[in-house]
Amino acid sequence: MDRKIIRARLLSFLREPDSPEDTGSFRYLEDGGLLIEAGRIVAMDDFARLDADQAQVIDHRPHLVMPGFIDTHLHFPQTQVIASWAAELLDWLNDYTFPEETRYSDPALCATMAARFLDRLTDHGTTTAVAYASVHAASAEALFAEGFRRDMRLITGKVLMDRNAPDGLRDTAQSGYDDSKALIARWHGRGRLGYAITPRFAITSTPAQMEAAQALAAEHPDCHIQTHLSENHAEIALSCQLYPEAADYTDIYARYGLLRAGSLLGHAIHLSDREIGALAEAGATPVFCPTSNLFLGSGLFDDARLRAAGLRNAIATDIGGGTSYSLLATLAEGYKVLQLQRQRLHPYRAFHWITRGNACALGLEGQIGTLDAGTEADLVVLDARATPAMAQRMERARGLMDELFTLQVMGDDRAVVQTYVAGRGVKAGPK
Ligand code: GUN
Ligand code: ZN
Repeated sequence: MDRKIIRARLLSFLREPDSPEDTGSFRYLEDGGLLIEAGRIVAMDDFARLDADQAQVIDHRPHLVMPGFIDTHLHFPQTQVIASWAAELLDWLNDYTFPEETRYSDPALCATMAARFLDRLTDHGTTTAVAYASVHAASAEALFAEGFRRDMRLITGKVLMDRNAPDGLRDTAQSGYDDSKALIARWHGRGRLGYAITPRFAITSTPAQMEAAQALAAEHPDCHIQTHLSENHAEIALSCQLYPEAADYTDIYARYGLLRAGSLLGHAIHLSDREIGALAEAGATPVFCPTSNLFLGSGLFDDARLRAAGLRNAIATDIGGGTSYSLLATLAEGYKVLQLQRQRLHPYRAFHWITRGNACALGLEGQIGTLDAGTEADLVVLDARATPAMAQRMERARGLMDELFTLQVMGDDRAVVQTYVAGRGVKAGPK
């Protein structure tokens, strides 16, 4: 039996912290041990209390181990459009992103890029992703196959888009439905994989395709749904023009039965009170994508306003509108976006968000996002002294909160010493 103990400082959240003083919201063990068997956590305890008999002990002291990070919105075929020069969203899509995504009709390219994509995620400490594939079934197929091979918890789906996109990057209402059905039958619930029904956004789907997405959603109530909502003013205006019968942008998705628990709405920036109320009533999840919202000049996500309406927001990188795979870098930009609105993102809440918080948003808190016994052994090992600048800052650190805030503000993949997926160390390199 494969039995190992990870020895380190351990941090795992029990609930969302409500303030920087809320030290009861997490478990922190100075000399902790995680007993792992068959890819699952069997126990989290003080190292001295664990039975190390016949276990391989991996000593990560003095580093900090927490659950692997969860990225709730990013795009598999956009790893090579990061840092593309565009004025705003629709130019960026038409000039760079759509042409790039046409390349993913090639299954061989998809297979190569799927491996590189998942390497980039785990390099950055991300162990679960909710990713858009391209319109091509082959792209979702390749990503599922690679995720399965690595035993990763991964949610993806082929994008549905049948208009306002170039040749080679459109399906039809029927083919999109058929391809999605086949992918769901083949992959949903297999290993640690799940399917997300993925109408890209209202602009690129005809009403007929929205009806097909509605049918898929109704036929597969346990699938996630992902789309984009209210990211940019030109996008909102065009969406409302294309669906004149809808009361507003959010109502387009509501009319097609696409808002429910498990619906992930990327961006959700420029919303009216009516729209926020509709999202809350449906139990849908807005996704904060700070690096992307800043890079494309889309706007400031109003986390407090959405939360006050009862919404549970997720957070994500949105590669490749987003500029970093790192959820640490994402937290840093998120902190600044909220600062501009006189909202604060304290480090306990920040690290809860990218672990247990995003797991809750996905309905997966029983499987991932904590170090609780019985959950899947997806872990990240963090070094808050990874760079000279971080080490120098840490000379003045007064405890866990300072350490976490250093990681939140200064961290990236260099702070990720190792990443474990289902109990296996997967990060290559000298550390
Ligand atoms: N809206 C529709 N497609 C996309 C995309 O790929 N990225 C972003 N940021 N917004 C979108
Ligand atoms: Zn996106």
